[in-house]
Amino acid sequence: MLKKILFITGSAVLLMSSESFAAGDPEAGKTKSAVCAACHGAKGVSTLPVNPNLAGQVPGYIAGQLKAFKSGERKNAIMASQVINLSEEDMNDLDAFYASMPPSKDVSLTEEAAQLAVAGEAIYRGGYAQRGVSACKACHGPKGSGIAKHYPRVSGQHMEYLEQSLLAFKKGERIGHNGIMYDISFSLSEQQIKELSAYMAGLK
Ligand code: HEC
Ligand code: HEC
Repeated sequence: MLKKILFITGSAVLLMSSESFAAGDPEAGKTKSAVCAACHGAKGVSTLPVNPNLAGQVPGYIAGQLKAFKSGERKNAIMASQVINLSEEDMNDLDAFYASMPPSKDVSLTEEAAQLAVAGEAIYRGGYAQRGVSACKACHGPKGSGIAKHYPRVSGQHMEYLEQSLLAFKKGERIGHNGIMYDISFSLSEQQIKELSAYMAGLK
């Protein structure tokens, strides 16, 4: 598994993710998102950093995560209760709505985070050869805006949420698409995870 990932090129990733999904209706999604707004913001930009921003996600990613919360493949008590009554159509509509919203532009970092981001940038752009970790930009884009369904935007996102996600992958609490991020995070230290999270949060 790990070996396979290491030699993946950008185009192979796109091929892998070319399965289609039914695009939803953003207007219907907007109406259905009223219950989500308390935590994720009316336009998919949240105020509390533990609640991820959803605005500007790559089409298909949000529907995929909602399905994973519903099947229990991705475990989170709060989100599990939110998805119980969602149909596949609801998920696709919500996906289309959030994908159509502009991503958060609030990328101000504290001085401490800005310092951490320097080391994070090196791994994001160049990988971490000692442990065979590919450059993050290969799958998340040079500006962190994501590249395709399954390969999400990581910029315009809260540093705390990014760090918490990578730690969840590292501990095996979240496995995700093809176990890719589980393998990668396992090879990163908690310090590197902090550095990467600072860099991604500040990416424009
Ligand atoms: C009570 C607060 C709350 C409400 C209401 C809520 N969420 Fe969430 N949501 C969260 C939290 C907290 C997480 C982070 C879960 C984790 O860490 O795994 C999350 C995660 C997500 C994710 C994963 C994002 C990512 O980047 O992987 C999606 C998608 C999502 N929520 C969509 C929705 C939708 C759609 C609704 C409405 C139907 C909704 N949420 C309602 C709190 C909430
Ligand atoms: C080979 C492709 C690939 C590479 C390289 C890669 N990622 Fe990922 N990443 C993914 C996929 C696929 C997901 C979606 C996982 C899921 O389905 O839950 C993801 C999800 C994430 C998430 C969670 C986003 C969210 O909204 O919850 C973060 C954070 C992340 N990656 C950071 C990184 C960092 C940092 C690196 C570099 C050290 C990296 N990724 C390298 C494919 C990749």
